[in-house]
Amino acid sequence: MPTLTQDTQLGGQELKRIVFSEADIRARTRELGAQISDAYRASDRLLVLGLLKGSFLFMADLVRAIELPLHVDFMVASSYGANKVSSGDVRLLYDAGASLKDRAVLLVEDIIDSGNTLGRLIPRLEARGPASLEVCALLHKRLTILEPEARWVGFDAPNEFLVGYGLDCAEDFRHLPYIASL
Ligand code: IMP
Ligand code: MG
Repeated sequence: MPTLTQDTQLGGQELKRIVFSEADIRARTRELGAQISDAYRASDRLLVLGLLKGSFLFMADLVRAIELPLHVDFMVASSYGANKVSSGDVRLLYDAGASLKDRAVLLVEDIIDSGNTLGRLIPRLEARGPASLEVCALLHKRLTILEPEARWVGFDAPNEFLVGYGLDCAEDFRHLPYIASL
């Protein structure tokens, strides 16, 4: 197992162990890129839509592994209402500039936990009339079954709080090249 080399303690939180190494992530992202390339071969100009901020590193690596012409856009969604429980309605803090109408859209998420964010966001995006809408999530805790379920998942994740490779704890640890548990 690679050693925890950098910033293992931030904001009073300490990294416990590496769950997915940089090499694990790189290899799996290549596989996903190949599968996605096959799936959209016949589609016109795929729109890859990243949910910020958590997906920013995964997006950057995934689109470089997709060997098709594509467009990139981003959204910022917040699933937290008044209380800190992920059960409130999803608020769009930033909406994609691109129109989804009649496009093949691939929504890219960092991690599916309760499924609340995607569960609420997907119907709203479907309402915009995309030709197709699929989800590629780097991690899925399998605590819930999404309807529809994410078509591509990088890794099934343990039910622990994970950070790194885009995932944060109070904005710390996003830049780590691996995924670790706290
Ligand atoms: P959901 O709506 O409960 O599925 O949660 C989705 C969002 O919560 C993700 O996009 C992350 O931003 C955040 N999240 C859920 N689990 C974790 C975790 O283990 N580490 C960091 N962020 C998480
Ligand atoms: Mg997120």
